[in-house]
Amino acid sequence: RDEPLVQQILDAVVQAVGVGPDAVPVTLKIRTGWDREHKNAIDIARLAEKSGISMLTVHGRTRADLYHGEAEYETITAVKNSVAIPVVANGDISTPEKAQFVLETTGADAVMIGRAAQGRPWIFREINHFLETGSKLPTPQINEIQGIMNTHLLDHYEFYGEHIGLRTARKHIGWYCKGLRDSHAFRQRMNTADDCKTQLQMVNDYFDEMKSHSDRLLFLEAA
Ligand SMILES: Cc1cc2nc3c(=O)[nH]c(=O)nc-3n(C[C@H](O)[C@H](O)[C@H](O)COP(=O)(O)O)c2cc1C
Repeated sequence: RDEPLVQQILDAVVQAVGVGPDAVPVTLKIRTGWDREHKNAIDIARLAEKSGISMLTVHGRTRADLYHGEAEYETITAVKNSVAIPVVANGDISTPEKAQFVLETTGADAVMIGRAAQGRPWIFREINHFLETGSKLPTPQINEIQGIMNTHLLDHYEFYGEHIGLRTARKHIGWYCKGLRDSHAFRQRMNTADDCKTQLQMVNDYFDEMKSHSDRLLFLEAA
């Protein structure tokens, strides 16, 4: 709301790290405004550009929207048309088709993806492939995803430790399994594991069993 303060903060950060021989590019991420009656993304984008911000990401919701409703891309288009720095479009991009749609309608230089990458980190290559070729990649091989999950979970346990790691891994495992065969029952079972080793074993048993049906992930429900 306080645009002069925004300007001061941006100037201070850019002056502190974004100039000189060891300059680090300073990027900014904003929403479209603080509520639907007060969308000031264009003004903030211009301030950012003036301050020396190198790239701007815009999430197509206001602060008051939280995560309600659908992200809108008109404001992102208007921001893109108002500044020369690269603009990244963000919000509700969950498929290659949606990424293409948002890039085309906003003219943005890139898209940023948050929630759709949770449990599906391969979404980026799916989007790249679709943008480059116009065709969809097959779903990933279960072996590959099982390998990714094992690396992820072992890192997770090491970073958070046994007690917190066990509990916070549950949501990641849930995201990986969303839409897969028997995932609901598996999650309930997996949530009863009371140590990381058992949890990881349950994950591997689930995916090993799945490989008897298919060598690729089969999504039964939309994620
Ligand atoms: C777990 C999680 C953590 C997030 N942390 C941040 C953050 O630290 N800074 C930020 O600007 N946005 C954060 N966001 C918001 C996302 O960057 C993004 O703007 C928002 O989720 C909309 O994009 P999406 O529809 O692709 O998820 C976070 C979102 C999630 C789901």
